[in-house]
Parts: sequence; C-alpha cells; structure tokens
Amino acid sequence: MSALLHKNKDKRDILMWVPVAISDHVTADKPLGVSVGDQGLVLFRDKSSRICVLEDRCPHRRVPLSLGKIIDGNLRCAYHGWTFEGHGGQCVKIPNLAASERLSPKLRADAFIPYEKNGFVYLLTASSSTERDVSVKLTPPDLLIMNPDLAGAQQQSGRAVISCSVDTYLRALLDGPHLLLSLGGVCITDFFLGDVMRKTHELQLDRTAIWSHKAKPHERKWGVSTLVMRTEVYQDQSSARVQLLDVGERPLVNILLAVVAGKRNTVQINWRCSWLKNYAAIAPWFVRWRISGGHCPLQLNDKIDGSALADLLPGPSVHLLKNDSLKVDVHKKKEPKRVCSTPPTATEESRI
Ligand code: FES
Repeated sequence: MSALLHKNKDKRDILMWVPVAISDHVTADKPLGVSVGDQGLVLFRDKSSRICVLEDRCPHRRVPLSLGKIIDGNLRCAYHGWTFEGHGGQCVKIPNLAASERLSPKLRADAFIPYEKNGFVYLLTASSSTERDVSVKLTPPDLLIMNPDLAGAQQQSGRAVISCSVDTYLRALLDGPHLLLSLGGVCITDFFLGDVMRKTHELQLDRTAIWSHKAKPHERKWGVSTLVMRTEVYQDQSSARVQLLDVGERPLVNILLAVVAGKRNTVQINWRCSWLKNYAAIAPWFVRWRISGGHCPLQLNDKIDGSALADLLPGPSVHLLKNDSLKVDVHKKKEPKRVCSTPPTATEESRI
C-alpha cells in the first residue's frame, strides 16, 4: 500500500482510489493529518469548502504541515509561517519578505487529487500535471454507498488505528468479525448461510447472528437464525460493508469501513455506521437505552487479540485475491474494468 502515493523510480504511478478520510472530519478550522502507507498527508478545506490535500511536510524545513493553521483558506506552516494554497501546493506567502522580492513558483508542497463521494474523501495517486489529465476522467466507484433504504437512519462516524495489515484486517472480517467489531446486543455466530458469493467488485458472505441475551452456548456456536450479518469486502478498494439484517433481509444496521494502510504497519479504519428505527424497536432494552443516550451501537475493537487472530482458521477469506494482483499501473496496461467508467458531472469535476 505504501507504493500507492509514491512515484516509482521510473516516474510511473500505481493508480487506485483510496478512501483516506470521512468528509465531515475535514474542516476549514483545523488541518487533518492522515497517512497512506508511509506517506503523510494533510487535509483541509479552502474558503469555498473544497477539499485540499498536501504532503504533510513543509518544503522549507520538513515540519509537518498538519501542525499548522488554516488562514483564509490557505495552510500556514507552524514553524516559520510559510503559507501554501491547497490545490497546487504553491507557497503564497513568506513572512518578512521584502516588497521587491518575488515568490518562486518552485516553492510548493506536493499536492494530491481528492474526490469527495458517499461521505468519504478518496485520493488518486497521480500528482503530476500529465497524470492529472488522466485521473480527472476517472471517478471512484460507487462501492461505499449507503443503502437507499437507510435514508433517515441515525448515523455516526469515527476513526481507529489498529496494529495489523490491511490484508489481515479484511481477511479477519470474513473469518472472524467478532474479533474486530461488536454490535450492541448482537452475538455473531460461526454459522454461514450458504457459500461465499463473488460479485463484480466484492466478496459477499452471510452468517447468522442472534440477540446476545437470548443466546445459549450451543446457539452461539451453530446459530439459530434470528438475524443475518452480511459482510461485503471490496478488496481492490480497501473497504468493506457489514450489514445487520432481520430474517426478512430488511436492513437494521449498515456499517461502512474504509481500511487504509497507515504508518509503521498499522491500519487506519474510517467508519460510518447507520441504524434504523427497526433496530431500536427490536433490540434488547439495554441497547435501546444506550442508543437513546446518543451511543452508537457499533464498537470497533482497536486492540485485537493477537492469539485469537492467529488461531482463526482460514475460512471464506481464502476466496480473496492476493493483493499484488489488484494494483493497476495505468502506464503499463489500462484496465477499464478496474475503474469506474462514469465520467464526473460538472459539479464533481469542479471539486477535483
Ligand atoms: S519549516 Fe515550514 S516554514 Fe519553515
């Protein structure tokens, strides 16, 4: 994953959309520092609320720009006060510069191309002008889209950093989701409802779940289906969706997970969770009580039990592809199947 935003030695980029942040977390008040692999990035909004993404490193003395301040839609470095605009990374102000001195166009931070969709901020790898021409024709696919049935649902979002790799996380999500997350009042079982289904972009797996206060030990193991947990893993988009459905397959809870490699072999999870009134209506009383107090029913484990993870038997995850086969090199071979073919609308294009 660390290769995503780094140019190769022969100046070619690997092209892939990566969901790096939740839209609502990027504001015009405070810069947000994130990382993709070893590449540090800083996100903020300019005066017109467009998202800007720069390398999180001041070109002057390498101080992280995420420590700086947003002044009039530009980002001011915390150390010597150089100020950068967010779309090309050009330095627009150096304190104490004489009136006769001009700012060189070479003074710029590396800028990246953001794309806001479905409540997430996606990033494309290219940063040179030639590659921008390629990238603006592409849009992120509609993978992390909310189920339209969930309109009007309550929502919460958050971010967690976990010590494991993206591949390990996505595989564990299929083989043992109980190690990674818990849903209020729900006991996730090991009982699968049918085989793994491979769709265009994702693997889908249904397993049973039961209300935990009703679960007897043998039911926890083998499942007595009162609920369905549907897991969809979009490995080539580093993301997943987990849905809790009732027996009639009507949605109760919808969880979107953007899983991106972070620094030092960690993984960053940006999540959005929506829950419907049906969930609150049929959940046990203690869950209803928590929800009414503003608590989210989702709990993402930020400390994974290493020995339990190691003991997980390889199950549905054996159907996942090896990560290497999912990288797309636009210069080498164009694979239209791997990118969304929908051209951006005028509004979308203006955001790029
Ligand atoms: S290190 Fe950023 S302005 Fe000097």
